[in-house]
Amino acid sequence: MMTTRREFVKVVGGAAAAARIASPLGLGAQSARPTGITTLAFDAYGTLFDVYSVGALSEELFPGQGAPLTQLWRAKQLQYSTLRSLMGRHATFWQVTEDGLVYAAKSLGLDLTTAKRQRLMDAYLTLTAFPDVKPGLEALKQAGLRVAIMSNGEPKMLQAAAASAGIDTILDDIISIEDIKVFKPKPEVYGLIQKHLPGPQSGIGFVSSNSWDIAGAGSAGLTTFWIQRNAAEPQEELGFPAAHIIRAVTDLPALVAG
Ligand code: LAC
Repeated sequence: MMTTRREFVKVVGGAAAAARIASPLGLGAQSARPTGITTLAFDAYGTLFDVYSVGALSEELFPGQGAPLTQLWRAKQLQYSTLRSLMGRHATFWQVTEDGLVYAAKSLGLDLTTAKRQRLMDAYLTLTAFPDVKPGLEALKQAGLRVAIMSNGEPKMLQAAAASAGIDTILDDIISIEDIKVFKPKPEVYGLIQKHLPGPQSGIGFVSSNSWDIAGAGSAGLTTFWIQRNAAEPQEELGFPAAHIIRAVTDLPALVAG
């Protein structure tokens, strides 16, 4: 695990920028306790699965460059997904992930051999889940909620990561933007949740650690829950701050079902 990873600001259009703020948004910014939530859809990468858990392998393959490689890789992955949607040139999230890795390695002057590229890409199939994920999802299921993934990832990536983390059997559904081949935060993506898990939109909550994703879901009309995994991380300035701010998946049961 890398000590610098949370300094990275998850901006879609940015490169590996780093920032800190002196006065992070406090929990007082939340709105009243939500009522009537029956379904929670979770973002995958960065929310359930720790994308920076590939850092150890990056460091092993490129000593001294693991942290910058991992951070730039993630930044380019997100940027390429957004740019491709703007261009109207969809490629799978697997492809944009690989393209982001190739760019990041070139940018840092690293010799990304075929074997190293394969190992780093394979690591994406077995990303470490955050420790609160499995107990949090189990508690939500026990409380009677439906829980699902709603991600830019393609189904085979998501299935592999969910199985590796031991949460595939807890989930009611794994929803991928591959249904419509356009990436978050396009509004129609968030509508996929209601298509897969029918019911009133007011009953759907969207959970993400990615503040830009929260803004997208909020803009699309969903009740949003931002997992602020680092108290120093600000919300994106996109006009749709989270309705609720929590620290971990395990905070959700008391909030929505308590
Ligand atoms: C996801 C990435 C973008 O959709 O976090 O899972």
